[in-house]
Order: sequence, then structure tokens, then C-alpha cells
Amino acid sequence: MNQRVLVASNRGPISYQFGADGSLTGRRGGGGMIAGVTDGLAALGPGSSATWICAALSDADRVVARQGGAGLGEGLRAGVPVRMLDIPPGIFGRAYNNVANSTLWFLLHQLFDTPNQPQFGAGFRRDWESYVAYNEMFADALAQEAGAQEAEAHQAAQDRPASPGLRILVQDYHLCLVPRLLRDRLGDAARGAGVGYFCHTPWAPPDYYRMLPADTARALLDGILGADRAGFHAGRWATAFMDCCAALLGADVVRADVEPDGVERASANRPGGTAGWVTYRGHVTEVAVHPLGVDASALRERDRAGDVQAHAGILRQAAGGRKLIVRVDRTELSKNIVRGLAAYRELLTTRPQWRGRVVHLAFAYPSRSDLAEYRAYTERVRQLALEITGEFGTADWNPLILEVKDDYPRSLAACALADVLLVNPIRDGMNLVAQEGPVLSERGCALVLSREAGAAATLAGDALLVNPYDITETAEALHQALTMSEAERQRRSTALAATAAADPPARWLGDQLASLGS
Ligand code: F6P
Repeated sequence: MNQRVLVASNRGPISYQFGADGSLTGRRGGGGMIAGVTDGLAALGPGSSATWICAALSDADRVVARQGGAGLGEGLRAGVPVRMLDIPPGIFGRAYNNVANSTLWFLLHQLFDTPNQPQFGAGFRRDWESYVAYNEMFADALAQEAGAQEAEAHQAAQDRPASPGLRILVQDYHLCLVPRLLRDRLGDAARGAGVGYFCHTPWAPPDYYRMLPADTARALLDGILGADRAGFHAGRWATAFMDCCAALLGADVVRADVEPDGVERASANRPGGTAGWVTYRGHVTEVAVHPLGVDASALRERDRAGDVQAHAGILRQAAGGRKLIVRVDRTELSKNIVRGLAAYRELLTTRPQWRGRVVHLAFAYPSRSDLAEYRAYTERVRQLALEITGEFGTADWNPLILEVKDDYPRSLAACALADVLLVNPIRDGMNLVAQEGPVLSERGCALVLSREAGAAATLAGDALLVNPYDITETAEALHQALTMSEAERQRRSTALAATAAADPPARWLGDQLASLGS
């Protein structure tokens, strides 16, 4: 079926850098949101069209944006036309770094160091104005694109059978205000477009969420409720969002998993589907859960490529036949890399039988290095890694290999070789590595997984679940994973891979589009 889709997100599927000779080269953007949307769009049927509106993030992106505002997603599987918005750097910096990353990210992951942060003074009010302006620029661009596309489609429909209406998919905490702003801007031609919002992070419960200034807290919820559907990766985030709508806006909330008399329905544990409905200012927003898994066959095909296999050879040599514990993360504060390393240290201390018999590959790739907290955290990761190597390393055994330079093929190779995959975030919207690992695994890997990852809702049955704050429990889970019988590990890994493959990006995006109606 021909589909027409507009996507809006802060980071787009491609970002440009200048080469030494001043030429522009494009690279695929990182993170789970990009992977899910890119691969989901790639699966739209022939005759479908999509446009992706994002912010110019670098100086090179700004050059591309000024050269007509559109680059083609060259070298990307989706090949989607990308329109980059050249948002003034001051506004962009305050909206992205100060509000989205330093405030909303910490809020939604419940990560504030509350004796000291947050502090909402005059500086925040100024930053918030930039966040509003940045959201308005996205809403303007979407409304303009939607109007042009709908007018063209109406024209074409006179010659061909009508295709479904336009669907506009707004991504993440950077753009919470966009759905409402967009509704107010859609002209007659595009008024019938379906508007979806998707949150790739957790959502915080009302007691934590209300840390925001009251007007800001309400504006964010009201913004999202301009959408026809608001999606989350896991039921608990959807429930937290609905609870915030009821507590802070006084919105009318009907939860799909609760009978009118307050009794929970048996279906409450379903990982996907409608979570409820929020009615506010005369508009109903359906709140839904769409877990995002992986495209298993594409991932396995990528794994067979020469660059991945070359890395596999190098990693095998580094492991020297020892067991491998692998982690792959962007160095975000939510990923809990420091406690993961501390758990590995505790394993080597309390279970000395593993000394010389295991290697920990910890890939901690750069993220948001504009923020002081992230730079300090990265330093702590490096420091702890050095301490562990110094404490346990011997002439013929390196217990820990920390890599901080992003290398996708090397990450795939490591996942394929892992005996144990450690995914221990403090909190995470979903987590794709927990799903990619078992799919790629050659001999079956045991998954040590934080109960606070959205992916735990689907993977809990076959993973070893841990409390991410409990270093001793995590060390014990690593031991249990390392000693698990081959047959048990293989059985669990196969089941984990099947679960991950059940919600590929094509389904994740396709279900959202289908639910937005025609
Ligand atoms: O994909 C994971 C994620 O947390 C998304 O929620 C979000 O869009 C993205 O990372 C943001 O990362 P960055 O600040 O690097 O663009």
C-alpha cells in the first residue's frame, strides 16, 4: 500500500563532516531511534514516500541545510530525503544541550543528583524560551511540508486511486511541544493528517516529573497530547505518562489495563498494544506501547560482511580462548557503565577462579561530550578500567579491553562472540543491544539484563535480571552466566533472539502507521 510519511526528530539519519579537502561526507546517525525509524521506513511498500525533517547538528550540516535544505540519505538503507533545519546555533544549543539533554533526559531517566540539581532559575526560563522557539521551527517546517504534500496528493488523486492520508511521526523528548503546535498550524489541505508522537526514553512518574516548574511540566504534556497517538517502548513508561496527565493536567485518563472499578485486567502484562486514552482540551490521544526489536535477517547478513569478520578475528585473538563478557553502549549516564565495571571487579575479587579465564570487552562510545557531566563520567569509566587492569592484569592476561572509539562492525563482531552480554542500565527506554546480542550470537550468549530496561518487559523470562544498583547481585549474575551449561545458554539465547526478532522495525513503524488510520 502506498504510504506517505513525514518524520521529525532532532538527530537525523545522516550527519555531515568536512573532509581534509573541505568536501562533505555523510555518516549514519547513532542511537536506537535512528536505527528503528530508518529500518522501519526502508520497509514501506513500493510507491510509498517519506521525508525526514531534522536539525542541522554540525557546521557541515548547516552548509548542507543552506544548500537547499535537503540532503539525500545516501548510503543509508532507507535512502529517505532528509530536510535539515538550520536553527540558529544559540537557540539550538540552549534547546538541545540545556533543556533536552541537561533537563529532560535527566528527568525522564530520574537521574538528577537531587541535593544539587536541578535548579530552575532565570537561566532555565531563558533556555525554555529557546526550546519553545526550536519546537516552533519544527512545527512550521512540518506544517509547510504537510501542506505541500497533501495539495500534491489531492491533485494526483484525481488520476489515481486515493492513497492513505499523510502520517506525521514526531520523535522524542526534544520535540514534545510539536504535536500541539503542529495541530494549530495545519492548513485545510493537511488538517486530516494523522499525528503520532513516540518517546524513546522512559517516562517519569508524577512525583518525580513534578520537579519541573509547573508551567513547563504542563506545557510538555499538553504538547504531546496534541497528537492522535503517543507511543512508548514499554507499558510502565506509558502508564507513568498517563499518571502525569491525570495528576498535573487533571486530564481524563482511561487505562486499558484497569477495569472501571479499579481492578487490573489480566491483559496488563501484554508487551504491546493500547495502554489507554487521555482526553484533554476536547481531544482524545490514544496511548500505546510498541516495543522495538531488531531485523534479525538484516543484522545477520551485516554480520557476515568482511569488515565484521576481520574484527572477529582480532577479538578472538585478544580473547585467547577465554570466556568473553561483552558490553556495548554509548557513554550515557543512564547506561551504568561504572557499576558494570565495579561488578566485574567484584567478580574477579570474590570468584578468583575467573582470573586468567575471562576477558571483559567494554565498548563505551562517545556521547554528548558538550556536557560536563558526560565528560566527567567518561573519565570515571577510563579511570576505573585502568584500576581493574592494574589490579588484576598479568604478563599474559589482559582482563579488560575498554574501547571508546565508535566502531559499528567491531561491536557486531563482539556481540557475535560474547559468552555473556552485560546490559545494566539504570533506566532505558528499550535497549537494542540486549536484543542484537542474542540474534548475532554464534554459540548462544547469556544475557545479564537490568530490570530497569524497557526490553526487560519482553526479555525477562530468558535473561538473568539484575537490580542495576546492586553491584554484588550483578557480579553474581555474571558468575551464574559464565557457569551456565552450554545447553541452557543456547536455549535461552535462542528464545531471546526469537523475542527480539518478533518486533522488527518494519512492524514497529508499520503498526504505528496502521493505528494512525487512513
Ligand atoms: O536512541 C536512544 C536515544 O536515547 C533517543 O531517545 C534519542 O533520540 C537519542 O538517543 C538522542 O541522542 P543524541 O543526543 O545523541 O542525539
